Amino acid sequence: MSSPLFEAAKKNAERAYQLDQSGQSHQAVRYYVNAAEQLQQLINFTDDPNMKNLYFQKAMEYILRVKEIRGIIEPSENKPRSSRAPPEESDEISDAISSVIVREKPNVRWEDVAGMEEAKRALREAIILPMTRPDLFKGSRKPWKGVLMFGPPGCGKTYLCKAVASEVESTFFSVSAANLISKWLGESEKLVNELYERAVEEAPSIIFFDEIDALASARGGASENEAMRRVKTQLLQAVEGFATGDELLVTVGATNTPWDIDAAMRRRFERRVYITLPTSEAREKMFQIHTRGVDLASGVNFSELSSYTAGYTAADIALLCREALMRPIRELDAEGALKDLSVQPRAPDIDDFLQGMEHIKPSVSPKELARYEDWRDQFGG
Ligand SMILES: Nc1ncnc2c1ncn2[C@@H]1O[C@H](COP(=O)(O)OP(=O)(O)OP(=O)(O)O)[C@@H](O)[C@H]1O
Ligand SMILES: [Mg+2]
Repeated sequence: MSSPLFEAAKKNAERAYQLDQSGQSHQAVRYYVNAAEQLQQLINFTDDPNMKNLYFQKAMEYILRVKEIRGIIEPSENKPRSSRAPPEESDEISDAISSVIVREKPNVRWEDVAGMEEAKRALREAIILPMTRPDLFKGSRKPWKGVLMFGPPGCGKTYLCKAVASEVESTFFSVSAANLISKWLGESEKLVNELYERAVEEAPSIIFFDEIDALASARGGASENEAMRRVKTQLLQAVEGFATGDELLVTVGATNTPWDIDAAMRRRFERRVYITLPTSEAREKMFQIHTRGVDLASGVNFSELSSYTAGYTAADIALLCREALMRPIRELDAEGALKDLSVQPRAPDIDDFLQGMEHIKPSVSPKELARYEDWRDQFGG
């Protein structure tokens, strides 16, 4: 994620932002233009549609700002003209918070989470109980401030965190660390600060930092990573000490490369929860959850499917179910039969699942798994 082009765009944006903030808007133009051009080039090198979108938005913002400075368009209401009066940052940052941070109530229910008993217990203790029974968490019995979920991709870290958030009456802030850095280039530090301030105001709050390892890669880098190091430092301080009173504020970090997290960061995430492959019982329930609402042929048996799918992640099973449910529709479509609105597909049968398993294989290897287990043995969870 830190290609030279990206780094160059970041530097230009930072410079532009600094100049603009300090009233030297006209000098900032050149840097905004450079940053916008580099971001537009980056779009061509990126496959990830989310990143493309972010680069695009940010580039558009710079171009708009340039137009404002040159007087081609009226300055927008909430972005004060920086030439004379010192700009008020907070409006811009508020916009930023709304655009990087998801605050809607997630729609994953606790009972939609198959298995993960240990992880659920840990999160109950870390988040749900302190929020529902704050009276029990007084004095030395303090709730955890930082919880780290780690484990291989697709095993339910994000999913479980959403379920936690919908279980408790709390404000849920969800931030992708990678987006925070790439989208907010020089401004991420302020964003972290503002985020925590708001979380304290709206406590009880859960701040979910997905892909927290993206922040850790700043470690040991040269000076071009200075901005990233500052964000990281800011975050470390925030996790530890933002809530000064009794406000309930918990930061949950998720990562699938826990070994990239350095000691300082690790220490803040005192409670660590290992999220790994589902057990056979959990897989059985996952088949049920992910085929809900579609009538299956009578021969489909979830416990049989579970026995065929040892080693599959939760995401693999969700994908397999979608594939199996899609097959009857795909058949009809190939015959061109779907144009007739009265035509209904047959019920998906066991064969659809077996055929699906030909394409969808376990995505995590035993060797990769062993690496997580080594880390857990060393650092807990
Ligand atoms: N316990 C579960 N019960 C039912 N479905 C689950 C469960 N855990 C995960 N899933 C399914 O698997 C999908 C992938 O899970 P999720 O995105 O939470 O993985 P992750 O661990 O966050 O992966 P990554 O590290 O790649 O971000 C979910 O969208 C959901 O459909
Ligand atoms: Mg995730």
